[in-house]
Amino acid sequence: MPRWQILFLFSLIFLSSSTSNASVNDFCVADLKGPDSPSGYTCKIPAKVTVSDFVFSGLAKGGNTTNIISAAVTPAFVAQFPGVNGLGISIARLDLAPGGVIPFHTHPGASEILVVTRGIIKAGFVSSANTVYLKTLHKGEVMVFPQGLLHFQVNVAKIHSNAFVSFSSASPGLQILDSALFANDLPSELVAQTTFLDLATIKKLKGVLGGTG
Ligand SMILES: *[C@@H]1O[C@H](CO)[C@@H](O)[C@H](O)[C@H]1NC(C)=O
Repeated sequence: MPRWQILFLFSLIFLSSSTSNASVNDFCVADLKGPDSPSGYTCKIPAKVTVSDFVFSGLAKGGNTTNIISAAVTPAFVAQFPGVNGLGISIARLDLAPGGVIPFHTHPGASEILVVTRGIIKAGFVSSANTVYLKTLHKGEVMVFPQGLLHFQVNVAKIHSNAFVSFSSASPGLQILDSALFANDLPSELVAQTTFLDLATIKKLKGVLGGTG
């Protein structure tokens, strides 16, 4: 075979292996126009995927902490960050003003790992055996919260505290205990009967959290 033919053959092989068509198995960037499902969103056409799909700039700044919990959670879950679709991973930013609290909540779909980047955060979770695991975390310290367990974070510094939390799911879900009890129209008598709290406390919390009934 003449030399130029060999060169041509090699260039062909090189080209076919270096074009930008990603394997269909490499990723499945969410097509947010489609429906979500337990296995994630359907995939955006790979040819239309760009680096922007794998970058999220929304955590560079924190959320507004002027609210009743003096805290803000800024999520980069699949709904905000389509590139994490199907990868079993996501992230969020916590901002806690002095006195700020991320109230008791659970992520039904994911374990969580937290790293403190500013201030001091007291964090804890309760196991299904009702054992409490509580720790005051300083900058650089990391704590893990096992999937589905109720947990919370409190700013115990005199300054604004920050943390980043990562999840073992693109859609960790979020259920806040007080919202489940006091931010809907479940009749107050039934809330009292099922929680053993007194009616006055329930009505007060429903007033604060926007519940009725
Ligand atoms: C933060 O939220 C408060 C209360 O809703 C509002 O008054 C304030 O303007 C917001 N601050 C910013 C910077 O958006």
